[in-house]
Amino acid sequence: MAKGAEPRIRDSWGSRLGVILAVAGSAVGLGNFLRFPVQAANNGGGAFMIPYFVSLLLLGIPLMWVEWTIGRYGGLFGHGSAPGIFHSLYDRNRFVKYFGVIGIFGPLVIYVYYVYIESWLLAYAVYALTGAYQGADQAGMQAFLRGYQGIEQNRYFSGVGPAYLFFLITAILNMVILSRGIRHGIERLCKIAMPLLFAFAVVIAVRVLTFGAPDPARPDFNPITGLGFLWNPDFSALWSGKVWLAAAGQVFFTLSVGFGIILTYASYLSRNEDVALSGLASVSTNEFAEVVLGGSIVIPAACVFFGPLMIAPLAASGAFNLGFVTMPLIFQQIPLGALFAFLWFALLFLAGLTSSVSMLQPAIAFIEDEFRIPRKYVAGIVGLITFAATHPVIFFLGQGVLDELDFWAGTVGLVVFGTAEVILVAWIFGMEKVWKEIHEGADIRVPKIFKPIIQYVTPIFLLVILAAWFAQDWIGVIRMEGVAAENKPVIIATRVALTLLFGGLCWMVHLAWKKRKPARVRGGKR
Ligand code: PHE
Repeated sequence: MAKGAEPRIRDSWGSRLGVILAVAGSAVGLGNFLRFPVQAANNGGGAFMIPYFVSLLLLGIPLMWVEWTIGRYGGLFGHGSAPGIFHSLYDRNRFVKYFGVIGIFGPLVIYVYYVYIESWLLAYAVYALTGAYQGADQAGMQAFLRGYQGIEQNRYFSGVGPAYLFFLITAILNMVILSRGIRHGIERLCKIAMPLLFAFAVVIAVRVLTFGAPDPARPDFNPITGLGFLWNPDFSALWSGKVWLAAAGQVFFTLSVGFGIILTYASYLSRNEDVALSGLASVSTNEFAEVVLGGSIVIPAACVFFGPLMIAPLAASGAFNLGFVTMPLIFQQIPLGALFAFLWFALLFLAGLTSSVSMLQPAIAFIEDEFRIPRKYVAGIVGLITFAATHPVIFFLGQGVLDELDFWAGTVGLVVFGTAEVILVAWIFGMEKVWKEIHEGADIRVPKIFKPIIQYVTPIFLLVILAAWFAQDWIGVIRMEGVAAENKPVIIATRVALTLLFGGLCWMVHLAWKKRKPARVRGGKR
């Protein structure tokens, strides 16, 4: 078979370790250390873990392999984003590339709020060292957070100025990394940040797990009870649809699959580079960071300081409350607390940074590949547009813009995208061809059982999720049930903006294909 001829030199990864760390860098993020414990605790701890692992096996791992495989395949045709990659899988169909638009839109929209939260982490890492919130009690820490977010003026903050400054720094940092490209930007960042953040996480997890039972009168206030909460299996919840949906959603979110991101990263591989083992390695790295490290920090720590009965209520108060209020409060009570708090926020910041750069890369690759505009300019343009787009998130934070963006990009988008992708791959492109493609240059053989899983189980599982979500929440969300009347204009404006963005991207896809159809190189196709 002919190796795909490159229409021009695309960027590429410098090393095998580099690409695995970059994909793992995208996957390991706030989802591992905050979202995971919150989801687990909200869904009954041990009851959550069984659906979680089943979803990992039937959705996460198969989709990870699929995305690595078709990303590399599309890259051979010079396409680094989902529209082009989908088109290269099914080029007789004119519409399939428009499904790929979700794979640019979703990450771009998530970036718009994710980068802002990332900047809070940078700020809190600094504040941990300067002692800005030192001595605050629970109410004080909450006031500190609301003041920082500009939701209220108080003795800590008189406006959103500091938050804006940290946001500016974070946005510029992302832009600088992306403007250097795959090998010199993203790969270099991940090679430094990933080992560092793992080291920080291990230090914090070991510290938490070595907390003794502090009070003989309350012996169950210890880390092991917290671990038991997560790991003692509870089969009673297996019949709860809600728990399954939460588990499947977490698997998608944490692995960064179903977003279009892995496709883009894999498009910078060459044909003979392994995807089977690398895909598995990226999943394993993420799961280590999630269930081992992520599972050993927040929940056990909350159990030591607030007791087993408080784990669920604390989780219900949300990931932000846990990360920015509860954890710093806990660290204030231990020796060297400021240092541990710094490590905690630095860990989350680095995890966030390696994820946020991955969210912009699909858009950058799209413009670079399909319009042949040099990366330097593209990174600047995309950086400026997203920078502007974050402003409503900053100034309307209390009014639900963030949740709205998260719902459309993070929940609806990924399930539709994942479903379209797996159907396209398994049923249209063809299972035999995919299977061959996965093993091209592979260092391991994928167990045969994954063939029927990818062909039948994953798509059916996804369709069931899609139907269940539609039945359970979507209608209510679409009709804005539960949105306060005064916030409705903001939500409607957000939806209009999202629609315009989606339409704009579709139009760009249309333009790109209209312009340079004959230039497509087909050398890699068998
Ligand atoms: N996987 C990342 C996390 O766990 C988040 C993410 C979502 C990254 C979507 C990229 C795309 O935090």
